[in-house]
Amino acid sequence: MSANISIDFITHTFKGQTDPTLNNIELKIPAGERVALIGRSGCGKSTLLHMLAGLLIPTEGCVRIHGHQVTRPSAKWNMMFQKPSLYPWMNVRQNIELGLTFAGQKNPEKIDYLLDLVGLSEKAEEHVQSLSGGQQQRVALARSLATSPEVLLLDEPFSALDAFTRATLQDEVARITGQEDLTMVIVTHDIDEAVAMADRVLIMSANPGEIVGEEQVDLPFPRDRSRAEFSRAREQLMTKFDSLVGDVKPAEIRQTGQSKALDDSKQQAA
Ligand SMILES: Nc1ncnc2c1ncn2[C@@H]1O[C@H](COP(=O)(O)OP(=O)(O)OP(=O)(O)O)[C@@H](O)[C@H]1O
Ligand SMILES: [Mg+2]
Repeated sequence: MSANISIDFITHTFKGQTDPTLNNIELKIPAGERVALIGRSGCGKSTLLHMLAGLLIPTEGCVRIHGHQVTRPSAKWNMMFQKPSLYPWMNVRQNIELGLTFAGQKNPEKIDYLLDLVGLSEKAEEHVQSLSGGQQQRVALARSLATSPEVLLLDEPFSALDAFTRATLQDEVARITGQEDLTMVIVTHDIDEAVAMADRVLIMSANPGEIVGEEQVDLPFPRDRSRAEFSRAREQLMTKFDSLVGDVKPAEIRQTGQSKALDDSKQQAA
């Protein structure tokens, strides 16, 4: 079951700093919505996501999930990081059931279901070290889902993967969050990733970090990157990003596929 998220006027100033990193962020995310947060490097995306996860408490304001103020991490709002952080001496199944083991629970049927959901049933007894990067990220995803979270938080979870694996996992995570009825917030540098996965994309400015705009992506899932609607949504988002936070620099906002070509053609025209 998914939960709604309310970000209530968050301002955050890190210790030893005078200026706030995040400024007066107010945002409502309805239950079951898939949201992507994009912005330049260092603008405060991870800081905000850590607050949603209860890993960091804002100096002002608060986060509420399902009406409850977030004051610490919980299995109900799970975070997936760029690195899967698996235990190398455990096999796939043991890694996935870790959260349940910590909670003193056992649910082998659920682990079987999750193995199937992430396409790793045949690898259940293998050690995670023998898996590819994409497969390891699937294990991390299944581990995040094992404790039946209401919210899935992702901080650039696919950025270390090759383009093909990345696209496959983007589609799978979008499918799984719909199927399992989860609210999702993903932080990304990748415009394509945002368009492929999100119902709504939030644009964040830097110094101080503020949500300065948003774009709805009204395309059905699974999203076909080769369709004209997808390209249009991507161009619309890039144009809005450009107008709100300045020119897109490829080193800061990565684009894959056609949007890269779009950027190259812009440079040639200049
Ligand atoms: N623990 C901390 N103490 C002081 N400053 C911090 C701390 N963590 C982050 N910052 C600063 O806050 C700002 C936002 O950092 P954050 O990691 O949230 O950015 P980001 O948008 O996720 O960047 P990237 O896209 O590169 O991951 C940066 O200027 C960073 O240096
Ligand atoms: Mg970050």
